[in-house]
Amino acid sequence: MLSQRCATAIAHSNIALIKYWGKQPRPGNFPAVPSLSLTLDGLFTRTKVEFDASLDEDELWLDEKQVTGAQLDRVKRLLDSVRESASLELRARVGSANNFPTASGLASSASGFAALALAATHAAGLNWPTHAVSALARASSASAARSLFGGWVALDKDANAAEPVFPENAWDVALVIAVTDKGPKAIGSTEGMNRCSQTSSVYPTWLEQGPLLFNQARRALEQWDLPALGQAMEASTWLMHATMLAAQPALVYLAPATLEIIKTVREQRSAGLPAYFTTDAGPHVKVLTLASHAKQVCDLLRGLRGVNEVIVCRPGPDARIESTTAQGGPA
Ligand code: PMV
Repeated sequence: MLSQRCATAIAHSNIALIKYWGKQPRPGNFPAVPSLSLTLDGLFTRTKVEFDASLDEDELWLDEKQVTGAQLDRVKRLLDSVRESASLELRARVGSANNFPTASGLASSASGFAALALAATHAAGLNWPTHAVSALARASSASAARSLFGGWVALDKDANAAEPVFPENAWDVALVIAVTDKGPKAIGSTEGMNRCSQTSSVYPTWLEQGPLLFNQARRALEQWDLPALGQAMEASTWLMHATMLAAQPALVYLAPATLEIIKTVREQRSAGLPAYFTTDAGPHVKVLTLASHAKQVCDLLRGLRGVNEVIVCRPGPDARIESTTAQGGPA
């Protein structure tokens, strides 16, 4: 019987152009709207999972600091489902690190849960196809389902797993991230989504419009039509924030700096720059442009008040296993 088995995986972060915001009312964390994302080369999480007979409890280490409480519980739920599928009793030590500062407030749950799902299944000896690993990640964080795949990725309404749409090299675009101040502590996505579904008068419109915006964006992508894709992306972004603003109490993720950056992007677009913005459950702004205009967008954002850092990303690859080992001995 194996007493120690270990795998390390890398998964890249993704940014939704058409947003996932809202869950199906039944358990299991299924999305209420379809989403479409771009996986990014520049931002990734590396996660090592060691199932080890010497451990009495699961352990979680993030950026080399041990973490307990709600974050550990979420990781344990994923590990429990892997243990059940693999008929494995061993507890695990999970070590995870982002190549971008976690404190910057950039979403790390997508790349984090994708890397965890991939490393945990491999460490447990489960040789699952990618869509099954994507489904496992989706149960923890729906946006993580998309990070198993590189390039352009869809997660349909009510879907079990994400689906690749186009590979990373299909279109020479860049996503330029303007990192602003973090602002007050953001409300977590699960709490925010529940508040919107229960109290926001805009939520029914959001559910109705989501599939239409998704279809618009897919058609635009099939034609490599940046203005049409950008228009659908911005409409999805604004409608998600309208849904949040109409919740009670309102969920305000947009900071003054966010709106200043958006204003500049819109002005520069009127002047001919092919650039379209999106924001998520936080104040940072992500700008989609052609790779040929990435430097121009980067220089523009760098000069703005409230922008602390600018990160230029290109389409990124599939999640992957870096290494696996298994050692025998009494279990
Ligand atoms: O997967 P979660 O629970 O972290 O939710 C992600 C929600 C957004 O980032 C706002 C949108 C998205 O589709 O990624």
